Amino acid sequence: MRSLFKTMLITGTMLAGTAGISHATDVEVLHWWTSGGEAAALNVLKEDLSTKGIGWVDMPVAGGGGEAAMTALRARVTAGDPPTAVQMLGFDILDWAEQGALGNLDEVATAEGWDKVVPEALQKFSKYDGHWIAAPVNVHSTNWVWINKAALDAAGGKAPESWDELVAVLDKMKANGITPLAHGGQPWQDATVFDGVVLSKGNDFYKKAFIDLDEATLTGPDMADAFDRLIKLRSYADDNFSGRDWNLASAMVIEGKAGMQMMGDWAKGEFLKAGKKPGEDFVCIRFPGTQGSVTFNSDQFAMFNVSGDDKIKAQMAMASSIESPKFQSAFNVVKGSVPARTDVPNTDFDDCGKKGMQDLAEASSAGSLFGSMAHGHAAPAAVKNAVYDVVTKAFNGGFKDGAEAAKALGEAVAAAK
Ligand code: GAL
Repeated sequence: MRSLFKTMLITGTMLAGTAGISHATDVEVLHWWTSGGEAAALNVLKEDLSTKGIGWVDMPVAGGGGEAAMTALRARVTAGDPPTAVQMLGFDILDWAEQGALGNLDEVATAEGWDKVVPEALQKFSKYDGHWIAAPVNVHSTNWVWINKAALDAAGGKAPESWDELVAVLDKMKANGITPLAHGGQPWQDATVFDGVVLSKGNDFYKKAFIDLDEATLTGPDMADAFDRLIKLRSYADDNFSGRDWNLASAMVIEGKAGMQMMGDWAKGEFLKAGKKPGEDFVCIRFPGTQGSVTFNSDQFAMFNVSGDDKIKAQMAMASSIESPKFQSAFNVVKGSVPARTDVPNTDFDDCGKKGMQDLAEASSAGSLFGSMAHGHAAPAAVKNAVYDVVTKAFNGGFKDGAEAAKALGEAVAAAK
């Protein structure tokens, strides 16, 4: 493993060298932004840093949701050679902070007043023991559905607002001869769909199940029903869903081969990259029954302990660039997410982005903003992985019914926490 990463690092440095770019200091950035839309957003960051004289050594580890990236990270840290900056989610950040692996961003955070503008829900993961340890770049949310506009029009034209309406639209799309639901069968994608399904059964239910990890809620009749809904959704996917990458599922909707995809708003990045326009080519709605609530995840760049003043300076400069309001707008417009600070104007965002910003603000003040289980913001990795296992087994027909799946979920979570 290690030698492979070393090779990637050397290649990256050589490429920078051959391009004749000479930077005072480089940052080596580990991330999983490898799809078309993600790479376009990453370029906004690379270019912004380059204008500040900070060079970029790329360490991409493909795999939506970042599981493979986190495995690669562990190998690097174990080898005593952590990358400078690492894309990371929620509880994983706190985990590394607890192990003493992360640097301290207090100086730049204090100078720039991050405390006042970064929402508290994010600060919970950007700070450890009162100190800033990561720079949040965005806020994504998982309870979205992306619908092909022509396919929706052919299915009656009305976006579904409840579970029953959703099933009716999916049935019409099936009758119209397209794959109703574009899905990629990977545990994190199954779990992303399940975030929406669980939230559609109520805010209290989501909180008790996924934030409080309450056993009676995890094993109870509402959870059984949530699993029955998930199992029903599987019947709308095509036969080749297993293992499919999320962006290929997005492409099915973009091309009109499928009706809709239930996916976080990084999917919008794919639609935009393909030249599609919200309201004209595609429609963005909250998972039916979840309007007013948001399950969020925030990509943050955690800065690892590195030696050398130059490297630390580059980390601080990178963190400062990421938090600048101008960058927050430019990046998130492309990425599909919304800004990680509350004072960024929505002027440059499309209608889905504007809706995302408004939904986030409203959910935040109404107490209906929750961390996404699928994307590491509801519970630590051990619990998240236990949930993945049961959800994926359920999606793939491994339980006789939802009740059996709910029982297994309660057991798996109890064993993991
Ligand atoms: C999420 C991440 C997003 C997006 C997605 C698919 O976990 O927060 O930025 O990259 O995975 O890769």
